Amino acid sequence: MKILAIESSCDETAAAVVEDGRKVLSSIVASQVAEHKIYGGVAPEIASRRHAEAICQVVREALEKAGCRLSDIEAVAVTYAPGLIGALLVGVNYAKALAFAAGKPLVPVHHLRSHIAANYLTHQELKPPFFCLVVSGGNTMMVEVRDYTDFHIVGRTRDDAAGEALDKAARTMGIPYPGGLNLDKLAGKGNPSAYHFPTPRVEGCPYDFSFSGLKTSVINIIHNASQKGEEISAEDLGASFMHAVASVLCGKVEKAIDEFGYGTLVLAGGVSANSVLRDMVEKMCRRKNIRLFLPELSLCGDNAAMVGAQGYYEYLSGNIAGPELNAYAGMDIDNIIK
Ligand code: KG4
Repeated sequence: MKILAIESSCDETAAAVVEDGRKVLSSIVASQVAEHKIYGGVAPEIASRRHAEAICQVVREALEKAGCRLSDIEAVAVTYAPGLIGALLVGVNYAKALAFAAGKPLVPVHHLRSHIAANYLTHQELKPPFFCLVVSGGNTMMVEVRDYTDFHIVGRTRDDAAGEALDKAARTMGIPYPGGLNLDKLAGKGNPSAYHFPTPRVEGCPYDFSFSGLKTSVINIIHNASQKGEEISAEDLGASFMHAVASVLCGKVEKAIDEFGYGTLVLAGGVSANSVLRDMVEKMCRRKNIRLFLPELSLCGDNAAMVGAQGYYEYLSGNIAGPELNAYAGMDIDNIIK
């Protein structure tokens, strides 16, 4: 079954054709990164306008590259939540019009579910149940993936997402957007023990995260140094901060896996591309004899292939939307509105 998938939740306009949830026939991503760089982050209205300009061409290219006509497609899948609302609306309305005009079922896909599904494209043998750490720019959570469309949230961030904390820290350090990615490159050259950061705890909720304290710490270090006229090594500070963030993520996952008794761990989301986090989690899994699945680097960030993968399983479970489908800026991974 071939699904045409569309993604526009943030600053990438993407379309893909995916067969049976596992085989990518085409994947086109039009990134707006260069344009948002000058603002140090994503400017929402600009993102929406660029999606509106790019979406027709991106979908056309995805179909052409897959060697498909619209008549070969059996369903249209689209990211409908969570994300920037104006950006999501472009993809949702486009997908709705296309599905209606072509007489195809419309499949609504939750953005974080699709990040997890990126792993089904990388690892053909991967099947639920498994435990998953989702780390992206807007979300950080630990989830039990009980089945392809059955999720249970074990813990989540109370404030900033890990990616958001990395991006803000990078911005304060004068590192260009996208901060997390550039910090990763720089931090590889620094000493991760050069600066000490506190270990954040959420009282009474051992599986919840908090990254705002860590973010404030790094910002304070930079401001204090600048007030005293002291030089800071961006490599050392970046490496130490990255190490602190990865340690929090890895430590909570280890504790949760012990408690919930999973033998398979999956990472998902943009920050799962991080070299320090990958290395730390790999070592932890080797030590505990846990099977680890990481998405290939090209599928960690936003793309539509992962939407096509999850869309297939949503379709099989009967999650089909009508023409009244709306977009939602916020929605839990275990909550589905048709
Ligand atoms: O999943 P994603 O592409 O978008 C959301 O759905 O939020 O994640 C974007 C986030 C950004 O915060 C970006 O800085 C971060 O992923 N990121 C990284 C790396 N590559 C992207 N963070 C750390 N290391 C990386 N290599």
